[in-house]
Amino acid sequence: MSSAPADGAAATQPATSGARKVYVKSYGCQMNVYDSHRMADTLASSGYTETSSPEGADLVILNTCHIRERAAEKVYSELGRLREMKDSAALEGRQVRIAVAGCVAQAEGKEIIRREKTVDLVVGSQNYHRLPELLARAHNGPVVDTEFPVEDKFEHLGKPSASKIRTRGISAFLTIQEGCDKFCTFCVVPYTRGVEVSRPAASIIAEAERLADAGVREITLIGQNVNAYHGQGPDGRTWTLGKLLERIAGIRGIVRLRYSTSHPRDMDDSLYAAHRDIPAVMPQLHLPVQSGSDRILAAMNRGHTRAEFMHVVERLRAIRPDMAFTSDIIVGFPGETDEDFEDTMRLVRDVPFTSGYAFNYSTRPGTPAAEREDQIPENVKTARLHRLQALLEQQRHSFNMRSMGACVPVLFDKAGRLPGQMVGRSMFLQPVHVMADAAIISTVADVEINEINSNGLFGTLVHAPRAHEAAAMELQKA
Ligand code: 5AD
Ligand code: SF4
Repeated sequence: MSSAPADGAAATQPATSGARKVYVKSYGCQMNVYDSHRMADTLASSGYTETSSPEGADLVILNTCHIRERAAEKVYSELGRLREMKDSAALEGRQVRIAVAGCVAQAEGKEIIRREKTVDLVVGSQNYHRLPELLARAHNGPVVDTEFPVEDKFEHLGKPSASKIRTRGISAFLTIQEGCDKFCTFCVVPYTRGVEVSRPAASIIAEAERLADAGVREITLIGQNVNAYHGQGPDGRTWTLGKLLERIAGIRGIVRLRYSTSHPRDMDDSLYAAHRDIPAVMPQLHLPVQSGSDRILAAMNRGHTRAEFMHVVERLRAIRPDMAFTSDIIVGFPGETDEDFEDTMRLVRDVPFTSGYAFNYSTRPGTPAAEREDQIPENVKTARLHRLQALLEQQRHSFNMRSMGACVPVLFDKAGRLPGQMVGRSMFLQPVHVMADAAIISTVADVEINEINSNGLFGTLVHAPRAHEAAAMELQKA
């Protein structure tokens, strides 16, 4: 859907001079974080530099999320605040432009312009590469572009400079797949992000190499349904996620690999093999289960039972006994009884998940579950949510406590809050703090854990810096 002129003929060329500032505010998932970076990279070629606050920005982009309740309302109230900012900037003779991107933009389209006149541009998630051109068009009046274009957006998005990559840190997200065909009955993603599309492996590999050359050490391959990846390989064959992980693990400098978010039904043999054979693939998996009740899983159209989910968990554990699982869980799906909820609590204990995100079910317009008449009262949902969150928190704490006295490999990424303190992540993404030289940043070193609190794990360096994972990887690649 587009209210913009049918083609770019009326568009003026994007300006390339002047130090204009863009502020991108990201809501929701890691896919949006990645998209926000790529929007900023694309606008860099039109003379925009990124800024970390809306004050003083010439362009503000809200990169929105539509997954749960009140998402659109939150965007409208943020737009109200931005309108005031834009109006007072105008009084000072400064023009501020406002764009809405992401899933709310995709879902609401023209409605945003109708409700909030301050918006100059509404851009859907497949059109970010067109931002400079769309902004140029928006000089003549508001523009909406939420079409699914024929061209591959990834090929046209701006690429970050090495220094930009470095400012974003040593861990990077890399989108390899977008959209979802699973149609879980509670979820808007198949409607907002469209069908499953995988990027060709060659373009992903090139991006991973660029990240590694600039100093990135850990890559998380991301997608709405990342383990359904089936992109075209450089050999002309269809590559699976397992094959892609194997190839990226071979890139010099990459010491850790992760992927998210996965669907239990799309775990294939190559992915199990990747966990078995590739040391860089971390023994940690975010595997949303949504419910522990077979009745609710069927009503959610998840396409798997509780037993099938447990089978995936057990198969991975047989390969990597230290494998840790986190999950997304919805409580109060229509028709959920106390018994169904107890099944969920049991599953959380049985896995056991080392942490997780629990959500109250919220009706999403246009999804099948929203039509059901057996909606659960909010107070029941909330009572269940609190119990589930307490259990998840307890399990997170016991998992952390298991590291007490252990020696864990840590990938260091930044200075801590205290002078001389460095912070990194364990294989399970727990923050780990030590006193160490800043030279340890971007290496892997062993830490003996001797304190655990709500801010994470604390310990002392065993070898300073030993970087054994990095060394092993480099040897393997030599
Ligand atoms: N209500 C509550 N939670 C939802 N999620 C997706 N749709 C809904 C909804 N309608 C949760 C799922 C998903 C996570 C990203 O958001 O648990 O895995
Ligand atoms: Fe939504 Fe289900 Fe697809 Fe996940 S798998 S994005 S919950 S439809």
